Amino acid sequence: MRFIYILSILFVYGFAHAQPPAAIIPMPVSFVAGKGFFTLDNKVTIGYNNAQLKTAAYYFQHELLSQKGITIQQKEGPANILLVLKPAKKKNDSNAYQVSIKPDQVIISANDRQGIFYGMISMLQLALASKNNQLPAAEISDAPAYGWRGFMLDESRHFFGKEKVKSILNWMAFYKLNVFHWHLTDEPAWRLEIKKYPNLTLIGGIGDYLNPDLPAQFYTQADIKEIIAYAAERYIQVIPEIDMPGHATAANKAYPEYSGGGSAGHPEFTFNPGLEKTYTYLTNILKETNVLFPAGIIHLGGDEVSFGNEKWNTNADILKLRQRENLKDNAAVEHYFIKRMADSLYQLHSKVIFWDEMADADLPKDKTLMFWWRQEKPEQLRTALSKGYSTVLCPRLPLYFDFVQDSTHQYGRKWNKLYNPIEQVYSFDAASYAKNAQEEPLILGIQANLWTETVDNDRRLDFLLFPRIAALAEAAWLPQKRKDFKTFSVNLTGHLALYSKAGLYYYDPSKTLLHPEIPVKRKKPLNYKD
Ligand code: ACM
Repeated sequence: MRFIYILSILFVYGFAHAQPPAAIIPMPVSFVAGKGFFTLDNKVTIGYNNAQLKTAAYYFQHELLSQKGITIQQKEGPANILLVLKPAKKKNDSNAYQVSIKPDQVIISANDRQGIFYGMISMLQLALASKNNQLPAAEISDAPAYGWRGFMLDESRHFFGKEKVKSILNWMAFYKLNVFHWHLTDEPAWRLEIKKYPNLTLIGGIGDYLNPDLPAQFYTQADIKEIIAYAAERYIQVIPEIDMPGHATAANKAYPEYSGGGSAGHPEFTFNPGLEKTYTYLTNILKETNVLFPAGIIHLGGDEVSFGNEKWNTNADILKLRQRENLKDNAAVEHYFIKRMADSLYQLHSKVIFWDEMADADLPKDKTLMFWWRQEKPEQLRTALSKGYSTVLCPRLPLYFDFVQDSTHQYGRKWNKLYNPIEQVYSFDAASYAKNAQEEPLILGIQANLWTETVDNDRRLDFLLFPRIAALAEAAWLPQKRKDFKTFSVNLTGHLALYSKAGLYYYDPSKTLLHPEIPVKRKKPLNYKD
């Protein structure tokens, strides 16, 4: 009898452990199930040991009210849910948190406010997954594997607007993603108001990838302030990209005097690196940008310049620059330009990010980050890491979300026959890209990028982003050895229900609730590589 009793204890205990940790995505690093439940109802109070936590408590209260109709109240002194900011012990456990759920009290503790916020997000996910608002007793101890958990949205090619951006930021927070990279300028349109150069948006904001005549759409500086505040409340940094010297077509439409020309396929594609006034103009733009975006880091692009710099071979000012500075070819001109613009940013006390092409330029490694995007050029990542650049991994395969996610999908991109199903996003192993101990800390994290040539409405955006955003979050949060696609897939089922409730037009990888792929107009064949 005693033997059976022990066996049954083992069974229950073992079973509790075998359970997915209550559907939290990203899965916590450690989740130990306890006994009983904490009931989240209108009698519950929330308190904190430090007034700095008031706004985070408010966020949680508000989410519970809007998503579950539960009203919990803030209270001084003892409370049922207690937020505890602990003195920091060591620096490298930032954003770590603990949640202790017992039947009579929940304690969420962390060394920083962001950690407390993530503890509350885990609680929120438990609440949303619960039956009758009964949260299972548990001890959760959690911390992210990577500090950079990013998502990029291209709003030059299609403009989605403030409400959709806020919705994305809210989902990013729900998945503990913390960097929103905002691609605001490119060939079709310029979307960021710059007071000194109003035509950038009044003229450059006209049109999009499919329709060059659409009335101007852009973000005013007041809009930017609103979005930044919304993101900050969710512990998300917003980093703008002002792409240069290529992908500058929309800006050149507004101010042709700074254009360096282009090529047949990409007319007026570049700024003019041969004119002194170009540097003043772009620096003025960056001065406003750096005030608007307080992250202290700006992405300056630097990608694909060779697509559209044919005119550099014959432009008199650029040829003069080459002679004066002894620049042997167009790549040297590019690097000269990039160094000057990076310098302008350093003078504004900002760091700078470039796409991986610029790993070839010699820039100060303490103020410059690289984004490795060309998966077919692993040598470019090697160059970046061996030169000591902090690097974010966002290779097209599997982290470009404009790639299709199923063999039957007909719109969006492929790389030859390759595409980006959710399992490959999930399995992406950032740590495997470091070849030695010096390189390990240089890999800051991972990011998914959504280019929007084939994304001309919100439903299409949802279809490409959900649920791959959940896989991205877990790939960025969990160390490889803790990942488990089966458990993730089980946990995801509950999240798909949340997407339905939120009215999102998501893709269901299990195909049980299938939204069909919406046709989109395409200007290029499916298999284009650039
Ligand atoms: C890129 O996809 N051109 C960075």
